[in-house]
Amino acid sequence: MEKRQRESWGSRIGFILAAAGSAIGLGNIWRFPYMAGSNGGSAFILIYFVFALVIGLSIMIAEFAIGRRTGLAAVGAYKSINKNWTFAGVLGILTAFFIMGFYPVVGGWALAYVVKSVTGLLSNAGSIADAFGGFISSPVEPLIWMGIFLAMNIFIVARGIAGGIEKASSILLPTLFVLLILIALRSITLPGAGAGIEFLFKPDFSAVTGQTFLAALGQAFFSLSLGMGCMITYGSYLSKSKNLPSNALIVTLMDTIVAILAGLAIFPAVFAYGMEPTAGPGLVFVVVPTIFAEMGALGILFSVIFFIALTVAALTSSISLLEVVTAYLIDERGMERKKAVYISGTIMLVTGIFSSLSLGVMSDVKFLGVGAFDFFDILTDKIFLAIGGLLLAIFVGWVVKKEDLEDELTNGGTIKFPLFNVWYNLIKYVIPVAISIVAIMGIISIEQ
Ligand code: PHE
Repeated sequence: MEKRQRESWGSRIGFILAAAGSAIGLGNIWRFPYMAGSNGGSAFILIYFVFALVIGLSIMIAEFAIGRRTGLAAVGAYKSINKNWTFAGVLGILTAFFIMGFYPVVGGWALAYVVKSVTGLLSNAGSIADAFGGFISSPVEPLIWMGIFLAMNIFIVARGIAGGIEKASSILLPTLFVLLILIALRSITLPGAGAGIEFLFKPDFSAVTGQTFLAALGQAFFSLSLGMGCMITYGSYLSKSKNLPSNALIVTLMDTIVAILAGLAIFPAVFAYGMEPTAGPGLVFVVVPTIFAEMGALGILFSVIFFIALTVAALTSSISLLEVVTAYLIDERGMERKKAVYISGTIMLVTGIFSSLSLGVMSDVKFLGVGAFDFFDILTDKIFLAIGGLLLAIFVGWVVKKEDLEDELTNGGTIKFPLFNVWYNLIKYVIPVAISIVAIMGIISIEQ
């Protein structure tokens, strides 16, 4: 059989927007604020930044390197370097399915809230919490929104790398930035916003436990799309002339900036209106609309803008998760792109239905003591991504040849990567030890 030419990104900026689009998602706007809110605020945020910029960035560089070196998606990349490591790639595919088990459900909520913002949700601030509870537990409505959200994913990914993912991200990501900046500006100029800014930036270490570190590490992996082969896959479509470390740095910084922007959009308003920052997963779906409801007519506009931003962010990430599975089916099973997308999309539809229903009619069906939605969420964020990151670091540090890595990260010696040795030692020694310590500390403090 004639080997098909591998697809590739159209331009450097297109690649950066796609990779940043993958990173920037529900993790930044939905999860980051509530994780920060329920883990003591600024201290969590500080730990998170350190993890993202040291561990996250190093792993992203490693994933890009492995992806581009092999020109293959997660499973193929591991397998082609060392057959015994195929399992690490397979774990990534499994993780993609698990994340997609709940991600499109939340994406569907965001989409629904764009419409709900103009159809009366905000008319009674007092009933917004009940409305959210009723909505997510109802058996049909959230499924329809999830279906629409997944269909958008399938539509984009079926069109391929440059024509689908890159094009969509190039339009959607800049839109997201503008929308979030608008909301953040509104939020920080509210009277009483100062307390929210303080909550974000003035560290209070009294609430820090082993779990805080584990939560921050899981959040760093989740938010940067690491530890499951996504950045390996995106790296596999990169041309040999691109500078991997500098692209990884840009993507990491963009992701971090959006997390800060989301925090600035949410917490000042939360404090200005005397709401609770510890509301958990419902924070952006309950607290934020309640704030907008208090703002009157302009609030409706801000609410529409906010939920469009949330939907856009979710979409550019979920397409990358769908792509991880799609690329695997193309590379390893020789499937046609469209067919691969339809098959993976269908499986995701089924898991999504289960996890949406687990919040309502199927709340009695438990896996390891939790419903499907929480199962997918907790398992990926707290366990799978950290294990995936640990495996990747060990693989790159101990299995892949150092010369090959240096060659890949300097484009065959044509560009400089002055911090190569620092990076290499981080990946080989520091990061595996750090992840292990954080995981053990986290587990011990859960037991207590
Ligand atoms: N990074 C995405 C977010 O923050 C989620 C994601 C995780 C996407 C892993 C791809 C891979 O929402």
